[in-house]
Order: sequence, then C-alpha cells, then structure tokens
Amino acid sequence: MNRRDANKAILGSALALVGGQVLSQATPLPAVRIGELIRLSEIWADLEFRFASEPALLVRVPIPQQVNPRVLKVSEQIYLTAYSRTCTHAGCTVPLPDRQQRIECSCHGSRFKADGSLQGGPADRPLRAIRLEVREGAVWAVGWLDG
Ligand code: FES
Repeated sequence: MNRRDANKAILGSALALVGGQVLSQATPLPAVRIGELIRLSEIWADLEFRFASEPALLVRVPIPQQVNPRVLKVSEQIYLTAYSRTCTHAGCTVPLPDRQQRIECSCHGSRFKADGSLQGGPADRPLRAIRLEVREGAVWAVGWLDG
C-alpha cells in the first residue's frame, strides 16, 4: 500500500467511525406496545414490561397536583407514568411497589414512590422515566424522557 492508499484508508475509517457515531445517536429505540389502556381500570394499576432491555413498569397514577413531565395525561381521569426498574444508585432491579405504593431497593435501601419519584437515597435521582403514547387504545413506550 502506497502513501496515498494509506491516507485514503485512514480517512475512510475515520468517516465510518463518525458515521457510526451519528447513526447510533440518531437511531431511536424501537417502540414497545405495553398493553391495552383498559387493563389500567383503577389508580395504581400497573403493567410490567421491558424497554431497552430493562425491566420497566407502567403505572396509572392519581390526578397530579401540578404539571409533571413524567406523567402523561390521557384524559381528565387517566394519568400514566412509566419508568425503568433499574435502580439509579447502582443498577439493581427494584421490586414492584408494595401495598403502600412504595418501592425499596433491596441492594442498599433507596426508596422510591410507585410513580418512580425519589423518596430517599443513596440514589440521588428518580427511576428513569419513559415517554409514553396511546395509540388506538393501547399504551406504547416510545423512548426515554431524558433522551
Ligand atoms: S442499587 Fe438500589 S440502592 Fe443501591
């Protein structure tokens, strides 16, 4: 390989790398159909699902007191939220909410509410929220709210 060919090869590799990075940043996660909205007939009803290879939970929450970007308003009565069950402290899978609508991570004791918000550390942020859409009566997970 002469010097010109070597330069072309290096430039081609660099462009492929840059193109790969752009592609990976722009590629959306595949949407996941979680289930029929009718299955969430009461407040705190929930549905387990997986999103981006993580265990996740969809929860019907009470009418929020204030606008909450983590909560999707479906109608005047129906509000939904969804989040990854991967603990934001060190990555353990948190259990499902208990009867008091609390979640306590069994690894180091971080506490969350059933809507995924943080109640106590060592985690320093809520469970990662998932963007939701309702399509023809079904709830879909379509991306991360922060991503
Ligand atoms: S991984 Fe959940 S509290 Fe540490």
